[in-house]
Amino acid sequence: MSGYYTIHDPLIERVMLTEDEIAETCERLGRRITEDYRGKELVLVSLLRGSLVFLADLCRHVQLDLKLDFMAISSYGSGEAVRIVKDLDEDIGGKHVLVVEDIVDTGLTLHYLLGVLAGRSPASLAVCALMDRRARRIADVPIAYRGLEIPDVFVVGYGIDLGGRYRNLPYVAVVRDEVMG
Ligand code: PRP
Repeated sequence: MSGYYTIHDPLIERVMLTEDEIAETCERLGRRITEDYRGKELVLVSLLRGSLVFLADLCRHVQLDLKLDFMAISSYGSGEAVRIVKDLDEDIGGKHVLVVEDIVDTGLTLHYLLGVLAGRSPASLAVCALMDRRARRIADVPIAYRGLEIPDVFVVGYGIDLGGRYRNLPYVAVVRDEVMG
């Protein structure tokens, strides 16, 4: 497979989603989004930083005139109240907003984000997530465009980090159990 490589890293157990599987998923989701949002003013909203890689691939399969906008919020689990670190640059009032996420775990991040965005009166608000790790769900969040369900294992790559590393892996890999304790 061209462009495929496996890093020799003691923290990584195996590849879970190959580049090909990810590419097929992006194409499938992009096709559906293209059909559903035809003729509508679409804004893809992405949360920094993990979703960037997925957004970059997905948006190239959405064959519509669209805009990209970005937000950053402080992470759940940091012990502090969640807050917006970087807000959207443009007003989403009256626009069709699709939130693009790399992975949904507890759903708390999305729950917070959807609450914030809904308060800004978009014409519609929906979610596209590459990976759904449903076993960890706490908040029930609607995922209109779901790429793949993944088991309850810790993953890195394709935007997802471990201590800031591994985001640039072109595939999604499983981290060894012993690394995560
Ligand atoms: C990850 C991911 C989601 C969130 C999902 O981001 O990109 O935004 O966690 O988790 P949840 O469903 O349990 O809320 P993270 O906070 O690791 O930041 P990052 O995007 O900078 O990697």
